[in-house]
Order: sequence, then C-alpha cells, then structure tokens
Amino acid sequence: MAFTPTLTQYLLGQLAAHPDRKDLVLIMSDLATIGKIISRETNRAGLASILGAAGSTNIQDEEVQKLDVFANELCKNYLRTTGHFCAMASEEEDTVVDLGGEGKGGGKYVIAFDPLDGSSNIDVNVSIGTIFSVHRRLPDLPTAAPEHFLQPGKEQVLAGYILYGSSTVLVFSFGNGVHEFTLDQSLGEFFLSRDRMQVPKKCKYYSVNEANFKYFQPRDQKFVTYLRDELGCGARYIGSFAADFHRNLITGGIFLYPGVDKKGTGEYKPKLRLNFEAKPMAFLLAHAGGLAMADSEEILAIKPVDVHQRVPIVMGNKEVMREYATMKKDA
Ligand code: AHG
Ligand code: MN
Ligand code: MN
Repeated sequence: MAFTPTLTQYLLGQLAAHPDRKDLVLIMSDLATIGKIISRETNRAGLASILGAAGSTNIQDEEVQKLDVFANELCKNYLRTTGHFCAMASEEEDTVVDLGGEGKGGGKYVIAFDPLDGSSNIDVNVSIGTIFSVHRRLPDLPTAAPEHFLQPGKEQVLAGYILYGSSTVLVFSFGNGVHEFTLDQSLGEFFLSRDRMQVPKKCKYYSVNEANFKYFQPRDQKFVTYLRDELGCGARYIGSFAADFHRNLITGGIFLYPGVDKKGTGEYKPKLRLNFEAKPMAFLLAHAGGLAMADSEEILAIKPVDVHQRVPIVMGNKEVMREYATMKKDA
C-alpha cells in the first residue's frame, strides 16, 4: 500500500537531496507548526468568544479582529525564537521587527507575513489564511534595515500560505515546484495532497470585487468583460485572497484586485500589499505555470520602495494573462 508522505518525511527528503536547504526546511517546519496553532484557534473562534473586532485599527486603517491580533502575536513570538531571522515584517506592524538585539543577529533570513488574510471573513465562518514570504538577509546592513524587505519577489527563497477552510492546507514552494499538504487534525500531521501543482490551462473562474468595476481603469474593465463575456468564466469571489488564489490555482482562474479611482482624480489606488500578499502568491504562480502582473509589470520583477507598498494585482495562468499583457493601458 503506497503511503502518502507527511510534511516531515517530505522535508527530510528535500534535506537529503539539497543539504544546503537545511535552514529553509527548518523554517518550513516552524511555519507548519504556526499553521496548526492558528488552525486550532480558528476552529475554536466561535467557542473561544474571540469573535468581533478588537476595537483597534491597524496600519492599513482596518478594524482589527481579535484572531488577527492572536495570529500576529503568535507569528512574532514563535518566529523570533527560531533564530532563523534577523528581522520580521508583518502586515499588522507599522515598522520592521528587529531581532538583532535579541542575539538573533545571526539570522540569515528575513520573513514578511500576513498573519491573517481575509480578516473580514473571520466571524462569518469563511476561509481565511496566513501568507508568508522569506528572503535572504542582505549583507553589510543592520538587522532591521528596511532594504531586506525591498528585494524583488524573484529573490524569494520560500513563499506560501496556510488556508484555514473546510480543511487546513499548507501550500509552499522553495522555487522547485509548488506542493500542497493537508492537515489531519486527529494526528496533527500534514500529509502531501498535491505535488508539483500546475495551474490548469482552462480559465474556469475570474475573481474580482465587481462592486468596484466602475472605478477600474479602462484596461481592467475590458479584461473583466473579456473573461466574463468572451471566455465565459464563472464568477467566484470569496474576499480572502488566500482562498480565492487557492481555488484558482486548483481549478484554473484569474484573480484581480485592480487599482480603483473612487474620487475621479485619475489615481487608481491599489489595495493589496506587495510584500505580504502579492509577492508570495506571484512566486507560487511562477512555479505553477502562471503569471502575476501589476499593471504592465511582472510582480516578481518589482523592487518595493516601501515595506507596506500596495500594488494592483491581476494573476492566473499564463495563456490568459498574455491577453491582459497585450491590452493597452488606455484600452
Ligand atoms: P487582510 O484581511 O489581510 O487585510 O486581507 C484582505 C484582502 C484580501 O484577502 C482580499 O482579497 C481583499 O482584502 C478583499 O477586499 P475587498 O473586501 O475590498 O474586496
Ligand atoms: Mn491579506
Ligand atoms: Mn491580514
């Protein structure tokens, strides 16, 4: 009887094949543990009465839900003890968290994370996720220098997400294939469920908040219309990027969060964050036969200018994205 490898067995296999990847294998194991803990808390949310807004707002000026706070504190407190990182950046933290002062200056990596993505869905029992992005620390810079987080996405060495849905799945890539593991809650083990994932060629769904359609630039309006009326894609939008991304990765689809101009100023403002959402997902997509763009740039090529920079996002399988790339900005 063939036995499905556990995450531990899979990572040990990676270690045997790539001894230089030891640190990343250990980091992935730590992130899996964080995923198990947040999964447990997410499933208890209704019981643990941690529903409802904590009352504060974060740097994105969004109401912070208590599970957001729990997940952010957990990520920071757990990751700082691992010794892998010289600094961390969280979507929920205004500034970079410096780990140099804690004798962790030896950390060879930095990590950016969205501790809880889709927080508006926490108290309506809809899938939410944790997104992570790991870069090598840049040489000759202080541990908390923002430059560590201003590297283009193609320099990531590990990226992925944990999705807390009907089951808890972990999807990640070291840059050699995208792999999905599913958590067996009764054992507390992740088991390999999809190996070397590839986005299907057929674009089954498009995912966009169509309430913003009238605020999109003409090119984005044209592309949404093309997906819906010419390709005949179905509409699916969950409102948690990790969940929408995961479904499209499996079924084939395009995710869009274009810039919106709600004031008629001609400035199309993006919402999603380059370091915490766009880069990690673009990295996965690139290794699963997809393409992720921010207007006319490939997301993986963008050099961030600010740790909390936001970008417009259009991403999915390459063939369909080529159509977007050919559409002129002024459509
Ligand atoms: P977060 O909860 O981390 O702020 O992320 C929410 C993001 C993303 O997950 C989702 O795709 C998007 O916000 C939904 O935005 P709208 O509600 O404006 O469509
Ligand atoms: Mn998010
Ligand atoms: Mn978030």
